[in-house]
Amino acid sequence: MKQSYIFAALIIGLATGCSKTSDYSPAAGAKGEDIFRAACVECHKDTAPKIFELKADEATPATIKQRIAEGNMRMPKFPNIQGESLDKLTEYVLANSTKK
Ligand code: HEC
Repeated sequence: MKQSYIFAALIIGLATGCSKTSDYSPAAGAKGEDIFRAACVECHKDTAPKIFELKADEATPATIKQRIAEGNMRMPKFPNIQGESLDKLTEYVLANSTKK
């Protein structure tokens, strides 16, 4: 029993420990496409118009923005992509992804 607690703690530790923060900052006036190519293609290829295949409930500006701001287990968060840059990047991602 005790062992399974240790195991669970280890898994949670690994999962949260992998979430990183990117220090990328977009240049003033950068287009959504520029930001995507600079910050995201390391992991996501720019396969526009099919960058992502999003579920209907994920294909909203709020969800995309949240993902960029908060990251995920294997995706860093991008606290410096804000305001207009965040809007443009989100628009680019949504305009170039398909819906499931
Ligand atoms: C270090 C690698 C990495 C970088 C850099 C990265 N991502 Fe991700 N991203 C991932 C991984 C891995 C997933 C899927 C697994 C997950 O949810 O953790 C993902 C998932 C996503 C999803 C959800 C897609 C879906 O099918 O639900 C979106 C949207 C997304 N990323 C956008 C971006 C944007 C925009 C950027 C650039 C600002 C970016 N990512 C940069 C690794 C990365």
